[in-house]
Amino acid sequence: MITHENKLISEIEALKIEFEKTTDKLIKDVRRQDKIMIRSDKRQQQEYDELQTKFEEVAALQKEIEDTQKEVVFTMGAIGESRSKETGNHVKRVAEYSKILALHYGLSIEQAEMLKQASPMHDIGKVAIPDAILNKPGRFDESERRIMDTHAALGYEMLKSSNRPLLKLAATVAYEHHEKWDGSGYPQGLKGEDININGRITALADVFDALGSDRVYKKAWDEEKIFKLFKEERGKHFDPKLVDIFFDNLEEFLEVRDRFKDIES
Ligand SMILES: [Fe+2]
Ligand SMILES: [Fe+2]
Repeated sequence: MITHENKLISEIEALKIEFEKTTDKLIKDVRRQDKIMIRSDKRQQQEYDELQTKFEEVAALQKEIEDTQKEVVFTMGAIGESRSKETGNHVKRVAEYSKILALHYGLSIEQAEMLKQASPMHDIGKVAIPDAILNKPGRFDESERRIMDTHAALGYEMLKSSNRPLLKLAATVAYEHHEKWDGSGYPQGLKGEDININGRITALADVFDALGSDRVYKKAWDEEKIFKLFKEERGKHFDPKLVDIFFDNLEEFLEVRDRFKDIES
């Protein structure tokens, strides 16, 4: 009996030792694993932090580039504007009108926003037109008109070689803002939807604003006269769909006109 018990005890002892050895080994393994994990966690955290910093730097740089781009574009538009002594807020209003038209036409918010930034450059080509013509009070003769009309193609030439989407868009707008829906515009005599939508939009925005403002060669038109012309030119000068958008959302356009009123000098 005793022998049997002793045998059992010694077997249990042996099992206990075996068990302790195994647990020891397991604990050691877990600890080692932990250390490795902590080390790799630290490394990962460090890599993550470095990446984060780089992201922030890139984002800041990207914003800087975009801001610069916007400023350059706007300044260029303003230069064109100041040379032709156009009313102070003309390009700002054209920008806003263009965005409204783009959104109602169904362009995306991004596209509308980009057009808002590009449309102020529509007359940038005027920087190359002689002052005597640019600021002539009264009507142009044949040859003056021909020179004046080159501002569209000139603007396009100035901007077309850029790879920047914004400047590319500005080039198109400069080129096509005097095209007319019925094909009677210049410089290419494009017709209907062959005219880029951004050109069609800027054309309407530009004319609406120009008619409502004093210029060296004319007084501002009253609203009724402008609306009458727009109805007449629906499908002639202007894309009919854009004219409809204009009348359907008139309050939005008038709000912009009031917000960016020219200060009387
Ligand atoms: Fe123009
Ligand atoms: Fe203009």
